[in-house]
Amino acid sequence: MSGSNDKDLPSQDELDQMSKEDLVKLGTNLDGVEIIHRAQRYPEPGTKVEKRAERQVAIWLTVSGISALACFVIFIWNHWEFALPGTDDYWRYTLNTPLLGITFGLSILSIGIAMVLFTKKFIPSEISVQDRHDGEGAGSSEVDRKTIVAELGDSLESSTLPRRKMIIGSGLFAFGALALTGVVAGLGGFIKNPWAKGDKSELWHTHWSPIYNPPENPNETVFLRRDTGNPYQVTLVRPEDLDAGGMETVFPWRVSDGLGETEHSRHKLLEGLRYVSNPVMLIRLRPSDTAKAIKRKGQENFNYGDYFAYTKVCSHLGCPTSLYEQRTNRILCPCHQSQFNALEYGKPIFGPAARALAQLPLTVNDQGYLVAAGDFIEPVGPAFWERRS
Ligand code: FES
Repeated sequence: MSGSNDKDLPSQDELDQMSKEDLVKLGTNLDGVEIIHRAQRYPEPGTKVEKRAERQVAIWLTVSGISALACFVIFIWNHWEFALPGTDDYWRYTLNTPLLGITFGLSILSIGIAMVLFTKKFIPSEISVQDRHDGEGAGSSEVDRKTIVAELGDSLESSTLPRRKMIIGSGLFAFGALALTGVVAGLGGFIKNPWAKGDKSELWHTHWSPIYNPPENPNETVFLRRDTGNPYQVTLVRPEDLDAGGMETVFPWRVSDGLGETEHSRHKLLEGLRYVSNPVMLIRLRPSDTAKAIKRKGQENFNYGDYFAYTKVCSHLGCPTSLYEQRTNRILCPCHQSQFNALEYGKPIFGPAARALAQLPLTVNDQGYLVAAGDFIEPVGPAFWERRS
């Protein structure tokens, strides 16, 4: 609205006398805009065509609101957990994230379609020509202010929106549901396992910890179980099982977890495998390398001879650091190429990771099996909240 020429401007009295239409016309002229053609979409109000158009917009807004509410319901009530294929609720858990994306995306898409339809069906068709101007000058004059207010008011009125109750109602529903879902989803990420029902112990410990031992046997041994590919086939590790320079993924297992004979046992076996902070890389260094190993203060006795155990959860963003290069003793994370030195308490030596991999203390029990000597003493994964899935 800048660039108005004072000699063309009406006086204050003339301005006060002008109708809204006059002000709109004046405003467009002052901006160097000439309206060549302008026509209401429905000069005859209340026709069938107009009502059908109104319904179409309202339907899309309603679809948007329903989709946003569906997303909200899934987010709050479909408790997500990792599930192995073939187990109960596998599909319910597996489809959780896609369903959140589909419903939220559909809600936004439907609002977009409704807005396009509304513009095409209700905003007056208009052809205008506007000159370019430099935009010089500071602040807006009284004329500019009055005419812009009139123009904005006219845009709203000529869109016919204020009298379309169906569109207003469905629009409020759609935007309200979308806003609610957006806020809940945004805040939901800060809540850690709201289904834990007060048991927050899993924030602080992994399943290697004795706190997961049964109450009747609080000192039960936690064995290192191999990754056999079958959750109900338990194989334990002895020091002689790995060649020098070898690496193996292991999970916690207790005798009380059983071998899958009962429902409770199957649950325990799956639990040991599925929590993100449980997998551990068991590495057997070559004896010549063990002699060069640098231990972390407070973790001097965490290794058992040539055996060192590090969490598989990368301290950068939590990917599994599954690659161990025997020749250089480096542990590699495939996600962003962080590298950790297995000879120096899993310290990061390349890439974006800034913290060492947490080390699990090891020992051997009187039957000759490798067992955990306790839980990690460092946080597993990139941050405190990533200690558990
Ligand atoms: S998650 Fe491992 S380097 Fe990024």
